[in-house]
Amino acid sequence: MSITYLKSCQTFTFHTQNTSYQMKVGKLNYLNHLYYGPALGDADLSYQIMQYDRGFSGNPYDSRYERTFSLDAQPQEFTTQQQGDFRINSIEVVNADGSYSFNGRFKDFKMYNGKYSLNGLPTAFATDTDHVQTLEVTLEDAVTKVQVDLLYSVFEEADIITRAVKVRNCGEGTIRLKKIMSTCIDFMNGSAFDLISLPGRYGQERQVERQPLTHHVHKIQSVRGTSSHQQNPFCILCDHHTTEDYGSCYGFALMYSGNFLAEAEIDQYDQTRLLMGINTKQFDFAVAPGEEFEGPEVIMAFSQHGLTGLSHLYHDFFRTNLNKSKFVKEVQRPILINTWEAAFFNFDDKKLVEIAKAAKKMGVDLLVMDDGWFGKRDDDNSGLGDWVVNENKIHCGLNNLVQQINDLGMKFGIWFEPEMVSEDSDLYRAHPEWVMEIPGRPAVRSRNQLVLDMTRTDVQDYLIESVNKILDSANIYYMKWDINRSLTDIWSTNLPGERQGEVFHRYVLGLYRVMDGIIRTHPDILFEGCSGGGGRYDPAMIAYYPQYWVSDNTKPLDNLKLHYGTSFLYPVCTMGAHVSDSSPQVPIQTKATVAMCGTFGYELDATHLDEKTIAICKEQSDLFRKYYPIIFHGDYYRLTDPFTVGNFTAWQSVSKDKSKSLLSVVVTNLTVNGSQEYIKAKGLDPNRKYRVNDTDTILSGTALMYAGLPIPREIPEFSSLQFYLEGIGIVRN
Ligand code: DGJ
Repeated sequence: MSITYLKSCQTFTFHTQNTSYQMKVGKLNYLNHLYYGPALGDADLSYQIMQYDRGFSGNPYDSRYERTFSLDAQPQEFTTQQQGDFRINSIEVVNADGSYSFNGRFKDFKMYNGKYSLNGLPTAFATDTDHVQTLEVTLEDAVTKVQVDLLYSVFEEADIITRAVKVRNCGEGTIRLKKIMSTCIDFMNGSAFDLISLPGRYGQERQVERQPLTHHVHKIQSVRGTSSHQQNPFCILCDHHTTEDYGSCYGFALMYSGNFLAEAEIDQYDQTRLLMGINTKQFDFAVAPGEEFEGPEVIMAFSQHGLTGLSHLYHDFFRTNLNKSKFVKEVQRPILINTWEAAFFNFDDKKLVEIAKAAKKMGVDLLVMDDGWFGKRDDDNSGLGDWVVNENKIHCGLNNLVQQINDLGMKFGIWFEPEMVSEDSDLYRAHPEWVMEIPGRPAVRSRNQLVLDMTRTDVQDYLIESVNKILDSANIYYMKWDINRSLTDIWSTNLPGERQGEVFHRYVLGLYRVMDGIIRTHPDILFEGCSGGGGRYDPAMIAYYPQYWVSDNTKPLDNLKLHYGTSFLYPVCTMGAHVSDSSPQVPIQTKATVAMCGTFGYELDATHLDEKTIAICKEQSDLFRKYYPIIFHGDYYRLTDPFTVGNFTAWQSVSKDKSKSLLSVVVTNLTVNGSQEYIKAKGLDPNRKYRVNDTDTILSGTALMYAGLPIPREIPEFSSLQFYLEGIGIVRN
């Protein structure tokens, strides 16, 4: 049983292999959070709650004159509003009578086998072999009859707990939600936490930041309408001394692609509270009597084995429980070449066939026709929204072009940016009311484009129909879904003025409906997400796209940092990574080594490559195929931190049975007469011997992990090394 309920003390305890989580129906029927951490059975931990008379703290009226009971100090699963808890809170609701108040007390619960799901939002799922149990707890405000369902699914083997929230209006008038957070964790005895987040910007996504929590409210958020380049809906709380390999850490990842908020605060009594959910920015959602509002899912994990341990939990979970595409496990991903950095908008069908012919010799499987194939799209001023083939460029027609590529033995992929429209497009001329624009204020342009109002079902239907029409018109194997701006001018002609506070969230719901209508109806197509590089790279998107373009920044040395930061949450198999012409000082082998920390492909004009380079590329493509099972399905280790000064960056993948491993090193700085450096492997079997790079060098797992491998000094600047380690037998003592 992964969830136990002890009636005598009204505790609910979740048990995963290595963790426990406990809550209890406590005093006055408030739901106390008691514990999240290493596994410890299901004994009632409420003895931990120490009650004192706290100065200036409120006491609920029905605590009578018990001055020691204050919600300002009690650990809670979901907070109240205006009941004397002045900390960051789970809910802000304006009731039908205009009052701002929610006093949720335990009402009911149900438990069942299997995973909950949400109606309009993507969630993780349970596979046939997962042992998953779900608990739904209902809280109710006795006055307004507003009910809150707290949904928890416990993935026993995966050490993962997911959580979501529903608000049901069982009262008589419409309420307005101003804030609704999907998770709230109170750490009664935890204030010595560091907060790790993944901030960034265009071209420099998911850099890593770590800072101690203080008594301030710390916020990680996006208010750009998408989860954004600037922040990621993920954070880690860890002990100050936690490292890659040692120490405790908690992860919180939100399955949501719009404005999000994670906030953490050490309260006046040195307890820590963490909340995560939809951002409150311009959020004002009306819920009529009988209606329900659902908040997105948070995926929570805890590890005692440092940041690597935590990343492994997420990597395994994302590779098993987020995306049902056959490209996650069953079908090997193709090596692709993308036309963007090869030709930008300047291509026609002949050029594409030429690129494909050259790429074929490089060992590439798939040609991706990027931006510029549709409408009147010769630059980024026009054409978005007109999803019809531009026959001035694709003279032979799409089907014929795809046929020519297929005849070369290659697959074909195509680019779309469904959510956007150019003013110079037939779509905009026909439907100017379909863009988001505040009445009387011309909309803000970004990359010269406007945003379609994804809250409208007619817009959603148009996109589903027009994109599917193209996908079904030829033998399309792959689609890249791009979005190249943040949202502004939040206004929908679909909603009355007083309900414009719903637009940000309804945009995301509309987007998921369109994605369902395109992606879920094409199970044989490989989808890759993209947002001007790696903006909107979030867990919900990974539920749709098995892979996501990491960044428009294809400089290999920058990519070392991009991959490092991204890997804290996302598995390598989700990271779109290509060899490009950028950084000419870096050898192409090094670029390939870096791109193998990802889906591997090319982003250059293959027709310009000489025979020697083509041969190197072919060799690299073959190597990638050889290493694919280790890279895609193994455990990934960050061996160095590229953000700290050092002379090399290294990482490693180890197959689950530890029989094979690929250890990669990029020498980023070759100092004159520098000291000899060594790289120590991780995750190997200490009792095994490993053959190094198919040579006669055979080393034990212990030697590789504890003594390390020397990094040669007599090598050109920016060289890379790949150590392929193959287990060949047991070490005899
Ligand atoms: C941004 C993407 O990141 C690029 O790869 C490319 O697809 C362009 N958009 C096309 O406009």
